[in-house]
Amino acid sequence: MRRLLFAANWKMHLGPEEARAYLKAFRSRYNRREDRDVWFFPPAVSIEAAAQATRERADLQVGVQDIYWEPKGAYTGAVSAPLALQAGARATLIGHSERRHVFGETDADTRRKVAAALAAGLVPILCVGETLVERDAGHTLTVVMRQLAAAIGGTEGTPLSRLVVAYEPVWAIGTGRNATPADASAVHREIRAWLASRLGGGAAQPRVLYGGSVNLKNCAELLAEPELDGVLVGGASLDPEGWAQLVQTSAP
Ligand code: PGA
Repeated sequence: MRRLLFAANWKMHLGPEEARAYLKAFRSRYNRREDRDVWFFPPAVSIEAAAQATRERADLQVGVQDIYWEPKGAYTGAVSAPLALQAGARATLIGHSERRHVFGETDADTRRKVAAALAAGLVPILCVGETLVERDAGHTLTVVMRQLAAAIGGTEGTPLSRLVVAYEPVWAIGTGRNATPADASAVHREIRAWLASRLGGGAAQPRVLYGGSVNLKNCAELLAEPELDGVLVGGASLDPEGWAQLVQTSAP
């Protein structure tokens, strides 16, 4: 049975006090369910507060939105995987489209970050996805496979079953325009085939999430696709009541 993962990407919202209040409200509205996990990605300054607020709930985990690949040193403004771990993070987003397109992160950077996350014991959530121009030119799969290969190709022997992949078409992020369940599913199938060919069919396979304008209205139909193991959600995760409702979406 697939174990669903609902990941909340708070982006640059919710400081420590707000994170505590949010998680108190969320916990009172959502009781543990055996078939799913809920992970929160607060800004780095709120990780510790969020980790404390979820301490007694093993089904709720906290992650960091980005890491730098060096473990420590003179890198002003950066957060390393070991430092995020120390603050309470158990996972990290890597290569989110805003990191790639706003901050100029490259495919080569994502590779170093995946390796650093795995070395420190953080679960990497590798984000991949095409822009609208790339999609319209029919290059969706080329781009997604290039991003996968650049970040994790040739890493045989590393425990990639701990990896999570999030397919997030750039044109769907924060735009209110989500991929259709069938479109998302088709790309997920290719991602899975690519992963299986690298990992071998017998190995535990990484979970593959969909992200991009997921909300209360479209979540059920997206999760009805067996190819989707969960969702990575920005805007619709910022309100604790709405998010508590969303994470209780029943998937057939
Ligand atoms: P969105 O963001 O749900 O606001 O589209 C998703 C993401 O960026 O992970």
